[in-house]
Amino acid sequence: MNLLVTGGAGFIGTNFVRYIMNRRPGWAVTVLDKLTYAGRRENLSEFEGSPGYRFIQGDICDPEAVREAMDGCSGVVNFAAETHVDRSIDDPSSFVKTDVEGVRVLLEEFRKEDSRKMFLQISTDEVYGSVENGRSGEGDPLCPRSPYSASKAGGELLAMSYFTTFGVPVTVTRASNNYGPYQYPEKLIPLFITNAFEAEKLPLYGDGGNMRDWLFVDDHCSALVAVLERGRPGHIYNVGDGQELTNTEVTTAIIEATGADGNLVRHVEDRLGHDRRYAVDISKLQRELGWKPETDFATGISATVNWYRENSRWWKSIKSGEFREYYRKMYSEKLENSERIR
Ligand code: NAD
Ligand code: TYD
Repeated sequence: MNLLVTGGAGFIGTNFVRYIMNRRPGWAVTVLDKLTYAGRRENLSEFEGSPGYRFIQGDICDPEAVREAMDGCSGVVNFAAETHVDRSIDDPSSFVKTDVEGVRVLLEEFRKEDSRKMFLQISTDEVYGSVENGRSGEGDPLCPRSPYSASKAGGELLAMSYFTTFGVPVTVTRASNNYGPYQYPEKLIPLFITNAFEAEKLPLYGDGGNMRDWLFVDDHCSALVAVLERGRPGHIYNVGDGQELTNTEVTTAIIEATGADGNLVRHVEDRLGHDRRYAVDISKLQRELGWKPETDFATGISATVNWYRENSRWWKSIKSGEFREYYRKMYSEKLENSERIR
């Protein structure tokens, strides 16, 4: 397999490229990444110069960059996206551009060669919208409710339309919330871990009762390899773990694992349109591809906290850059208005 991995310098992409380089030594990997605020080439510096590894800085919306990167590739895994819900509420434009138009540019280049084997579009369980009861199955209607999830829904629908219209071998995965090493500290888990280390406040949105199904990133990677190797074109696969936790429960686990002071928690004004719960039915992936998750939340969160403890240079350099202004804009007013809860 000669894979093009777009967005390979981001959180899941970095973990996925490392997973492939270590476990599928015969595969070649080209990373195409724009290196937005969320991407770091140095995440993968150990592979620079390795046979079979190539890094190209470029935008998936740029047909020329895509043509160069896709040359000789038999498969594409498209992780490249704008990914943070709060940023999408602040300004949706880059989300529509990358998460929809970028997918179109990739598909147009991909379909030029009949011999290409699989276009794997990485989507999200957020396309189902908020699920108060039960679990979303792959055939359920989509009801995205944030500019992020609406853009991701647009991207995957477009990808599937290339399967139906042009016979392009497209497969879509819809994963639940991932956590693990190299996650940009704007997302709940790395934000709270790093804030806890720095004795900064932990801004919990609303009542803290929103629920997510937390998936350790290596389990997501093993699911994606199963889909690449045995998944069926034209099919959609949910990926999740069933480890449903409220944000308050996640926060408590982080406080315990970091040894931080519980008084750091602040309930702040809720996110606009905040989805209450996501939960996916993963029986199709289990039944058809024999995949199962391996990492329970207690093990995964402890490994994640240890990684951030041991790699403080990685996140401190992020938190001292663009992130500072982002954090001030997103949180300072919310935190000023917050109530101390403990
Ligand atoms: P991330 O924000 O950490 O990384 C995104 C990467 O894409 C970065 O390296 C960035 O530089 C790159 N990128 C952004 N725009 C680009 C463009 N126009 N051209 C080329 N590269 C570009 O994201 P992540 O958390 O690793 O998510 C990866 C994928 O998985 C996304 O498609 C996301 O929607 C999906 N997903 C994420 C989660 C999660 O919990 N993180 C869950 C389900 C699905
Ligand atoms: P997040 O990591 O942004 O992922 P997503 O919104 O894609 O699920 O958020 C996970 C949950 O944590 C979500 O319910 C929002 C909540 N949250 C907070 O309470 N405080 C925060 O500062 C952030 C970033 C998220």
